Amino acid sequence: MDSFDLIVIGAGPGGYVCAIRAAQLGMKVACVEQRATLGGVCLNVGCIPSKALLQSSENFQETTHALADHGILVEGVKLDLARMQARKGEVVGANVKGVEFLFKKNKITWLKGAGRVTAPGRVAVDGTEYAARHIVIATGSESMPLAGVEVDEKTIVTSTGALELDRVPGHLVVIGGGVIGLELGSVWRRLGAQVTVVEFLDRLIPGNDGEVAKQFERILARQGMKFRLSTKVTGATKGADGVTLTLESVKTGKTETLVADVVLLAIGRRAYTASLGLAEVGVATDPRGRVVTDGHFATNIPGIYAIGDVIAGPMLAHKAEEEGVAVAEIIAGQAGHVNYDAIPGVIYTWPEVASVGKTEEELKAAGIAYKVGKFPFTANGRARAMGATEGFVKILADATTDRVLGAHIIGPDAGTLIAEVVTAIEFGASAEDVARTCHAHPTLSEAVKEAALAVDGRALHI
Ligand code: FAD
Ligand code: NAI
Repeated sequence: MDSFDLIVIGAGPGGYVCAIRAAQLGMKVACVEQRATLGGVCLNVGCIPSKALLQSSENFQETTHALADHGILVEGVKLDLARMQARKGEVVGANVKGVEFLFKKNKITWLKGAGRVTAPGRVAVDGTEYAARHIVIATGSESMPLAGVEVDEKTIVTSTGALELDRVPGHLVVIGGGVIGLELGSVWRRLGAQVTVVEFLDRLIPGNDGEVAKQFERILARQGMKFRLSTKVTGATKGADGVTLTLESVKTGKTETLVADVVLLAIGRRAYTASLGLAEVGVATDPRGRVVTDGHFATNIPGIYAIGDVIAGPMLAHKAEEEGVAVAEIIAGQAGHVNYDAIPGVIYTWPEVASVGKTEEELKAAGIAYKVGKFPFTANGRARAMGATEGFVKILADATTDRVLGAHIIGPDAGTLIAEVVTAIEFGASAEDVARTCHAHPTLSEAVKEAALAVDGRALHI
């Protein structure tokens, strides 16, 4: 029987990064992956293909709608969706091959097939057993189903099908006003679809700062997206002219129907542990099916660990990666650690939405006194030059110590701008520290400095 120091099950950003870090630390490592390519949901059907289509569709939107304002007149613009999809495939291909190269470089064995934990220290892959001193479960997540809405990945799709459509739907109805719904809804709206988002709650992107969410809804509505908030979908019937959805108002109970050419179901994701054999081995899961771990990613069974989407916490690729590094270091006897107060979240729409740390709602609920500094992109010279003045930067700092507790940005390149505040939080910086740091002019990052100045009521350009 082949034996390894570590067998990782799942080669998503959690699993493959864990395997690389463990190999760097001198372990003999294998990684089990049942998909034909490495990289997990993120590289194959998640982060990377969605960002490829977001970029392409934004280029199309710019060319058709924004360039004339810059004095650039383009005529006869046409959409070649087949090429756009092929390009997306090329981007994915380059990324997944990159991981395969990294496995070879780090001498990591890819065990191809479905892995199952047969006992502590034993993993079976399609019938062949391997021994492992340590096992890391990194099997990720899958789309959450909804009763009465049967996914066929053609007319009723999850994100996976929504990334593969071969024509622009006339009317796309998105169930769920969260990250997937708004990113992929934006893609298809930019390419010409009418998009209606049906959201159970009375707001979009729950968990994000409420003020940002309101502004985001207004901006997306101006772009043409329609919203049906406080509404739930109770059924879907497929017919010759599309899918008829039954909607029910959460507030009044009133029902109505809505016809869609394509329906995107995006109401969240759930931990994926199918046929892993966890129950047989006795690995504990919580009521939501997530593997239960302690502060060191250890399950209740010695030698078995878990990371990424399959455990609690935000379902984000970079969170999974951080955990992959940390658990490899812990297994190697080092002090691996993840700072959950400094994990950014980014929504890659236009404008982008980015956040880190606490929201105002969370600080209020915890009874923590805080100060707010806000700066709008309308007052930032670079944003004006770009023609991208929608949105603002908001920094939250402790009222007594001035320590930065959170930041919420809606605006151009918010996902890049947030990195500065993530670093500030990681270093325990105060708003004053950020405010006194020299920022290049003219850059969007000056809006972050100004928001930090505004915490103390001394923004210079507003
Ligand atoms: P996964 O990436 O889900 O990988 C798990 C792997 O394990 C899979 O390849 C699976 O085939 C394999 N596996 C499962 N069971 C077995 C088994 N028994 N044997 C062998 N192999 C097995 N996050 C971001 O941070 N930024 C984004 O922009 C972003 N965009 C997204 C867009 C979409 C459309 C989706 C769906 C998700 C997006 N995410 C994004 C979330 C991100 O993809 C996940 O958080 C991330 O992939 C989780 O990584 P993971 O390693 O835990 O699991
Ligand atoms: P989500 O949790 O972001 O949003 C789901 C939305 O659906 C919520 O607003 C929720 O209130 C709503 N909802 C739930 N049940 C409903 C119902 N029956 N009817 C109508 N609305 C309902 O989940 P989403 O968008 O599916 O994304 C899943 C995960 O993938 C996210 O947690 C996110 O972490 C990750 N992701 C991250 C991205 C990024 O970082 N840019 C991009 C895409 C996904």
